[in-house]
Amino acid sequence: MPEKEQARPLAPATYIARSDEDEAMSAHFTLRRPRYLKCCGVTAALFLILAVVALVLFFTVFHVKDPIVRMTRVQIPQLAQLVANRTALSGGANIIAVAEVSVKNPNVASFRYGNSTTRIDYGGEVVGEGRIPAGKAPARRTQRLNVTVEVSPAKILVAPRLGDDVAAGILKMESYTKIDGRVKILRIIRKRVVVTLNCNITYTINTSAIQEDCRSHVSF
Ligand SMILES: *[C@@H]1O[C@H](CO)[C@@H](O)[C@H](O)[C@H]1NC(C)=O
Ligand SMILES: *[C@@H]1O[C@H](CO)[C@@H](O)[C@H](O)[C@H]1NC(C)=O
Ligand SMILES: *[C@@H]1O[C@H](CO)[C@@H](O)[C@H](O)[C@H]1NC(C)=O
Ligand SMILES: *[C@@H]1O[C@H](CO)[C@@H](O)[C@H](O)[C@H]1NC(C)=O
Ligand SMILES: *[C@@H]1O[C@H](CO)[C@@H](O)[C@H](O)[C@H]1NC(C)=O
Repeated sequence: MPEKEQARPLAPATYIARSDEDEAMSAHFTLRRPRYLKCCGVTAALFLILAVVALVLFFTVFHVKDPIVRMTRVQIPQLAQLVANRTALSGGANIIAVAEVSVKNPNVASFRYGNSTTRIDYGGEVVGEGRIPAGKAPARRTQRLNVTVEVSPAKILVAPRLGDDVAAGILKMESYTKIDGRVKILRIIRKRVVVTLNCNITYTINTSAIQEDCRSHVSF
C-alpha cells in the first residue's frame, strides 16, 4: 500500500518536468498521436484479454463445485443373527455397521472437512451413531472411507415395527450423514460446503442383502 501511494504523486511531477524542459517534445508527442492511439488500443486490448481470462478463471478454476458424497455399501454382519434369534443379542454389546462412504472432490483445491457423524435410525428412533474423523479429499480425487457405526440391538428390538418388518422379510432403516467442510482456492476463494447424505437402507432378511437408496444435498 505505501508503495502505491508514493508512486502516484511522483508520476505527474515527472510529466510536468519533462514538458517544461522541452517544448519540442510535446510537439513531437502530438505529431505522433496515431502512435499514441495505437498504444492505447493495445493497452485496451491487453486489459480486455486480462478481463476475459479473469472471467474464465472465475467461472472454471476458481468456481467452487459441489463435492459428491456417496454411500456405496453398508454392511451389518450381525443383523442376520439379531433377526433370526431376537433373544441372542438383546442384552449384549453393540453390533457394528460399516458404511463405505466416498467423497469426490471436483475442485482444483482440496475439500477439508471437520469431524462428522453418520446416524442410523430405525422406526423413527436413533439406533446407532458413528464418527467420521476430520480429513480432506485432495483436489480432483475421490476419497473413500469406512465409517463404523455402533448399533444398539436393544434399540432395534424395542421398535414397535420390528414384528411387521420381520414378517414382511424387509427391514427399512435410514441413515443421516452430514459433512461440514470448506474449499479454499489459492487463499483467495474460501467457501464453506455442507454436504448432507440421507439414505434409505433396506435389509432383505432372506438374502441378507442390504440396499442403499441415497439422496445428497449441498448447502453453503
Ligand atoms: C437364541 O439365543 C439364545 C441365547 O443365546 C439361545 O439360548 C437360544 O437357544 C437361541 N434360539 C435359537 C432358536 O437359536
Ligand atoms: C475431532 O475429534 C477428535 C477426536 O475425538 C478431537 O481430538 C478433535 O478435537 C475434534 N476436532 C474438532 C474440530 O472438533
Ligand atoms: C473398507 O472396507 C472394505 C471391506 O472391509 C475394504 O475392502 C476396503 O478396502 C475398505 N476401504 C478403506 C478405505 O479402508
Ligand atoms: C424367505 O425364504 C423362505 C424360505 O427360504 C420363504 O418361505 C419365504 O417366503 C421367504 N420370504 C420372503 C419375504 O421372501
Ligand atoms: C426414503 O423413503 C421414503 C418413503 O418411502 C421417501 O419418502 C424418501 O424420499 C426416501 N428417501 C431417500 C433418501 O431416498
